[in-house]
Amino acid sequence: MATLKVSSSVPSPSEDAEQLKSAFDGIQCFCLFLFLLVFWTRAILLWTLEPGERDALLVNEATKRWTSSNQVLMEVACTRTSTQLLHARQAYHARYKKSIEEDVAHHTTGDFRKLLVSLVSSYRYEGEEVNMTLAKQEAKLIHEKIKDKHYNDEDFIRILSTRSKPQINATFNRYQDNHGEEILKSLEEGDEDDKFLGLLRSTIQCLTRPELYFVDVLRSAIKKTGTDEGALTRIVTTRAEIDLKVIGQEYQRRNSIPLEKIVNS
Ligand SMILES: *[C@@H]1O[C@H](CO)[C@@H](O)[C@H](O)[C@H]1NC(C)=O
Ligand SMILES: *[C@@H]1O[C@H](CO)[C@@H](O)[C@H](O)[C@H]1NC(C)=O
Repeated sequence: MATLKVSSSVPSPSEDAEQLKSAFDGIQCFCLFLFLLVFWTRAILLWTLEPGERDALLVNEATKRWTSSNQVLMEVACTRTSTQLLHARQAYHARYKKSIEEDVAHHTTGDFRKLLVSLVSSYRYEGEEVNMTLAKQEAKLIHEKIKDKHYNDEDFIRILSTRSKPQINATFNRYQDNHGEEILKSLEEGDEDDKFLGLLRSTIQCLTRPELYFVDVLRSAIKKTGTDEGALTRIVTTRAEIDLKVIGQEYQRRNSIPLEKIVNS
């Protein structure tokens, strides 16, 4: 019978600890490696897609997840040009054999559905002309709705989802001139935990100052424990050829750290 050979040198507790530590380091390295692999695979996947296809993919993923996915839907709908959004909708048909609005409507309910379906279906005019009479009228209307806390008002949603971006900007500038307060500020006076109000604020930011919106998303993505890689890869890959430089400058201005430092670390 073979005798069980016990190693003559029983490891000392400190050696044990040492081994354990190196094993642990190994696991940590491996986890980090897996994490980077997933991160880079995803970034590369997003990079290699056409912008329309990339947006279709992001929207499709967002209609299957709950966490902060409404924000992704709004972001794609409001920060793309009308043509880019149209391309995303066409790519969605081709890839998923369904329409974006069908899936967004299925994924959402109530006020979120009203707002998001309107936003993803929009095809805004893109000229620079602004009708100041209209801006004045609509600033007044919006002010009344906000005063009465009718945040889900049909006309408010219609204005946000159909007017051109320069027209919306003129309306909100008018709002500020007439009421001495930025619309975003007025919307902050509601319930802080109201998710719909939060989405309305982001919508307005995306339509008028998208770079500020992206800086906010990056900031909270980086602040989160573990970092929200989904948001980081999404923003870096979708904005690279558009306004990542401006977003980076704005980020540095507000945080005194260059964005590249964080993205590369
Ligand atoms: C501007 O908007 C007002 C109010 O809706 C409308 O009556 C007017 O015809 C518009 N002007 C132009 C030039 O479209
Ligand atoms: C919005 O209006 C402000 C103030 O007039 C202006 O500085 C800004 O460039 C406008 N933005 C857009 C997107 O039209």
